[in-house]
Amino acid sequence: MENFTASAPGKVILFGEHFVVYGEPAIAVALDLRVEATAYRCEKSIVEGLRTPLVERAIEEALRFVNRSGEAVCVRLRSNLPISVGLGSSAATAVAVIASITGLFGVKPSRDRLFRMALEVEKTVHVNPSGIDPAISVNGGAILYRRGRGIEPIKLGGDFTLVIGNTGVPRSTGAMVEKVRLFAENHPRVMDRLRAAASSIASEALEALEKGDVEKLGRLMDVNHGLLEAIGVSSLELERLVYAARRAGALGAKLTGAGGGGCMVALVAGKRVEAVVEAIRKAGGEPMVAPISRVGVLYGNG
Ligand code: PMV
Repeated sequence: MENFTASAPGKVILFGEHFVVYGEPAIAVALDLRVEATAYRCEKSIVEGLRTPLVERAIEEALRFVNRSGEAVCVRLRSNLPISVGLGSSAATAVAVIASITGLFGVKPSRDRLFRMALEVEKTVHVNPSGIDPAISVNGGAILYRRGRGIEPIKLGGDFTLVIGNTGVPRSTGAMVEKVRLFAENHPRVMDRLRAAASSIASEALEALEKGDVEKLGRLMDVNHGLLEAIGVSSLELERLVYAARRAGALGAKLTGAGGGGCMVALVAGKRVEAVVEAIRKAGGEPMVAPISRVGVLYGNG
């Protein structure tokens, strides 16, 4: 049976989540945790492995791109990326599904086109996505992202490890984005100042990342966490893990992604990794040393 496999990575946002929805810059790195999609011709469309409305939208987008709208195509999904915890599983799924179907029909969209299709699909998850998740999933590595202006690849300097802590508390990106929208509506001047601060943090962090100034990066992550707490997207469980990581010697720690549950991320120098992992576990989280990936979307026959 003719088939085509493609995969795409998840991500962790280091700086600027939520503020990126309002046009401020944000920084994300790709994780070597991937969603793999295999597309094959069949009589009646089915999705194996993961059933979300998002996959059906991704299939529609891809078929439209290859001028096969309405035809049947089947997709089998596999993933080692935890779902709905802020590590970009929905964007990675959209990118992998679209790439597998276009690949099946012998077409490879440009990265920008693939990004735009995945962004359309993300709108099934929440109405106003900034695009940072599909951008990092398509491109891999580390990027500075600004809504409407695209990506700037970042060269990572310095010696550090990212440790992720999953609270295990479910959350919805759409609900958190809506919560921030209401905050911005009720406190427009406060939001303006917080946005400006988030923007300064992201540009200083870009410099620190490129120079490998890990102490400064850690400090900026702590400040960024404070802003996220201020707009109401932290939670007791996230705070517990953030403080546990800091106490165990992390250079900085913050929630990552939409918040309200899901994951936090700590920046850790080599010697302290074990201590931070243990501290997160003791504080009730599920720790994971984040495997950073240079590779974005990958096309290949399975
Ligand atoms: O879905 P998550 O948890 O990775 O959050 C995405 C990041 C947000 O800034 C909260 C939303 C967006 O569209 O950028």
